[in-house]
Amino acid sequence: MSSALLGGCYLPELSDQSKTVTGAAPEGVSEPQAAARAVREMFTSIAPRYDLLNHLLSFNVDRLWWRRTARSFASVLARPEACVLDLCCGTGDMTFALRRQAGNNSATILGADFSHAMLQRAKQKSEGTSLRWVEADALRLPFSDSEFDLVTAAFGFRNLANYDAGLQEMMRVLRPEGECGILDFGEPGGLIGELYRMYFKRVLPLVGTMISGVRGPYAYLPASVERFPPPTEMLKTMRRAGFREASWTPYTFGIAGLYRGKK
Ligand SMILES: C[S@@+](CC[C@H](N)C(=O)[O-])C[C@H]1O[C@@H](n2cnc3c(N)ncnc32)[C@H](O)[C@@H]1O
Repeated sequence: MSSALLGGCYLPELSDQSKTVTGAAPEGVSEPQAAARAVREMFTSIAPRYDLLNHLLSFNVDRLWWRRTARSFASVLARPEACVLDLCCGTGDMTFALRRQAGNNSATILGADFSHAMLQRAKQKSEGTSLRWVEADALRLPFSDSEFDLVTAAFGFRNLANYDAGLQEMMRVLRPEGECGILDFGEPGGLIGELYRMYFKRVLPLVGTMISGVRGPYAYLPASVERFPPPTEMLKTMRRAGFREASWTPYTFGIAGLYRGKK
């Protein structure tokens, strides 16, 4: 691996054509730099309770989703020379699932996030493992072109201030034939969808706010899912970024789902 930045996080200066937010937009924010900063502050504020709330609010189904995602890339992870990057890794649970799937082979697995507090917890949890952590912005990664065989992002891509830029950056750091996997929330239809929306919009923000002691993030969560493009749109965006064989697999009635694509 030719480059790896440890510590020192910066937010990207986005080019002129991306002055409006075409990605996440926390309340009251209309400009990409401010959106990225608001997202980073939000996750930093909930870092101490993030794992507890994640497992509680998802009834532990999140563990199944990470595991299933890692299993989907079993063939890449079985290769001892594989280089894998887990973007927006937060406290590292997707990264751990990738490591477990790879077993004891010598695949290099890195987790990257721009929230120092989230990464600190990932580091604490990973003592004694070969995992490495990088403090970096997913829209401007400190890696050379074509370094990775697999780039994943679990529940983080939706939070990027610019989805096109996020996909382009994934594409840039992937090797030819490399794969990307984006696990994120969706919006199920029918009766399940109705029940889910009631839970997601009413119960979850209430419990999340109560336990974390911070109001914003758990109101932002359902709003960000509503704003995230539906699978048909997202697949078009992936193809536009140059991904081949773009696909979406729903998990648990489409509450979450895995986007895949190949360079
Ligand atoms: C919902 S958490 C997901 C964490 C983890 N992947 C998981 O599945 O639990 C989203 C993470 O994305 C990170 N994030 C959001 N935008 C980012 C960006 N532009 N660059 C790097 N990390 C980002 C946040 O700091 C946060 O830790």
